[in-house]
Amino acid sequence: MSQPASNGPEPESTPSARLLPGGPVAERILADVATRVAALTREGVTPSLATVLVGDDDASAGYIRIKQRQAAELGFASPHEHLPASATQADLHAVITAFNDDPAVHGLLVQHPVPRHLDYDRALQVMDPDKDVDGMHPLNIGRLALELPGPLPCTPAGIEALLAHYEIPVAGREVVVLGRGATLGRPLSILLAQKRPTANAAVTVVHTGVGDWPRYTRRADVLVAAAGVPGIVQPEHVKPGAVVIGGGVRYEGRRLLPDVDESCARVAGAITPRVGGVGPTTVAMLFRNAITAAERAVGSADSAGAAGSAAGEKLR
Ligand SMILES: NC(=O)c1ccc[n+]([C@@H]2O[C@H](COP(=O)([O-])OP(=O)(O)OC[C@H]3O[C@@H](n4cnc5c(N)ncnc54)[C@H](OP(=O)(O)O)[C@@H]3O)[C@@H](O)[C@H]2O)c1
Repeated sequence: MSQPASNGPEPESTPSARLLPGGPVAERILADVATRVAALTREGVTPSLATVLVGDDDASAGYIRIKQRQAAELGFASPHEHLPASATQADLHAVITAFNDDPAVHGLLVQHPVPRHLDYDRALQVMDPDKDVDGMHPLNIGRLALELPGPLPCTPAGIEALLAHYEIPVAGREVVVLGRGATLGRPLSILLAQKRPTANAAVTVVHTGVGDWPRYTRRADVLVAAAGVPGIVQPEHVKPGAVVIGGGVRYEGRRLLPDVDESCARVAGAITPRVGGVGPTTVAMLFRNAITAAERAVGSADSAGAAGSAAGEKLR
């Protein structure tokens, strides 16, 4: 019986990088959230995360269901408002204001994207910044920049936690972020440059204004893709042995198209998986922000969600 050749060269597509799934990171964060929910519940307070959905987009409705399921598992109340696709900006603001004014609601999110005729950023500005679990209100981005307490943007905070969980040092090393978008690249670059053991990196941000961005990504110890351009990161853009974090994704229908081409696993030392990398840590951070908001609202002592404390204490 013939045997497959065993001593030939490895096929070119064989992945070699260590995988960095987000699931175990999220589990650890959510276990901490569950403990804090239990402590609040013992004080007679049910933490509450309200959600708002506008329109009938299947994917958005699916994301809301995932968050509501997670909320129920953790012991959060999750009041929900579903506005029709025809809702006006004023309708959306009215729902947000009602949740702002409800002391039983501690956290609030408006599912993004909203229908085209609505302005998400204006709606965000109506939200009480202390209830903003996405950490994207302008005041919260300002708090992040100034290292003041406040909810952190979920995906950047999730990436810092993921790196810390897998004991990937970034302090003093070169981190290159491909993309300067408001959701991911820009806040992540602020976060990872802060003076903290799990950050403290030499951060470079590249974008369409940097024609030869591969010159920068090729020298990165940690490369974070945050462009939302499928397959933009190819093996030739990665330093051998580097850590590659895939944050950027685009959806075509239900198909997920990541920024990082799978073949990068041949060159990288460690890499997030195509599915289940950064995503689960983002959702976990949302609930971390929500429990912190609840603790702050009721004056509970140890609310540890200050900006600049995504995964560790500050360096002085
Ligand atoms: N995994 C998750 O849980 C999660 C959560 C949130 C967001 N995301 C994803 O993260 C990505 C970024 O989102 P965002 O809102 O922060 O960013 P964004 O506003 O979509 O901006 C994308 C950035 O990528 C840059 N870029 C695009 N094409 C490029 C190219 N060909 N060469 C160099 N740079 C290029 C853009 O440069 P310019 O500024 O020069 O235009 C811009 O800075 C999206 O794919 C989003 O879906 C993922």
